[in-house]
Amino acid sequence: MEYKSSELNTAIRAAQVAGAITREKFGELSQADIRAKEFKDFVTVVDKACEAAISAIIAESFPDDSMLCEEGTVMAGTSGRIWIVDPLDGTLNFIHSFPVFSISIALKDGNNELLTGVVYQPLLDELFTAERGKGAYLNDKKISITSRTDKESFLMATGLPFKEYDDYLESAIGMLKDVMHDSAGIRRAGSAAIDLAYTACGRFDGFWEYRLFPWDFSAGVLLVREAGGIVTNFAGEHNVFNTQSILAGSSVTHPLLLEKTLRHFRT
Ligand code: IPD
Ligand code: CA
Ligand code: CA
Repeated sequence: MEYKSSELNTAIRAAQVAGAITREKFGELSQADIRAKEFKDFVTVVDKACEAAISAIIAESFPDDSMLCEEGTVMAGTSGRIWIVDPLDGTLNFIHSFPVFSISIALKDGNNELLTGVVYQPLLDELFTAERGKGAYLNDKKISITSRTDKESFLMATGLPFKEYDDYLESAIGMLKDVMHDSAGIRRAGSAAIDLAYTACGRFDGFWEYRLFPWDFSAGVLLVREAGGIVTNFAGEHNVFNTQSILAGSSVTHPLLLEKTLRHFRT
């Protein structure tokens, strides 16, 4: 593993502290620990506790940076850099004791360039890390995007619509049908950050999801790119911060999926 910057070390420390919080509460939530933020959109005491721990660690180390966290913690710094935090990605899984969830922490500069990304899967103690220009790693071992080329062997990942989806349900179904034909299987694991991290290390051959937020995808996007993959929105544009659609894959699978998103979605 290459030299780690103080930014990466801080992100790792924050993710591990939050990871310990999730491990302690996994399978132990009571109804009183869960609240509906919006229709079909939940937050738990664990999301909040993780966010408090992560934001405190980052604020202490980098007081001049800004912060954007899913559960509302904001810090308005002067450096132009922004930390983007999903304290618990896969909250619904966590509530149901389905053991797939992660912590996602990213740092971008004032030009929307991603500098640092960490996705941590606490139950497996899997730590995915990336820094701009330095490659992507899983537990300090370099990782690479898939090298598979035959459609019949592809394992693809996606996220399915779950709220306010009337405007794109048909697009999502059409896309699914198409990818079913062009893959061995499709997974909907319930954590976009894990989907992207698994795409970065070649477990998944590609990933697409509509209606994501920067905290869901920022760290994962850097992981995939640093692992040699391609990430765009559904229109094929590289600035993923200007839409909510994410499409990731290799030089073989990205174009295969892009041809389908262009056909099915009007984004
Ligand atoms: C969700 C997960 C899920 C994706 C949803 C996200 P949350 O994040 O990443 O896989 O399909 O769009 O909202 O709410 O569990 O942090
Ligand atoms: Ca999320
Ligand atoms: Ca979350």
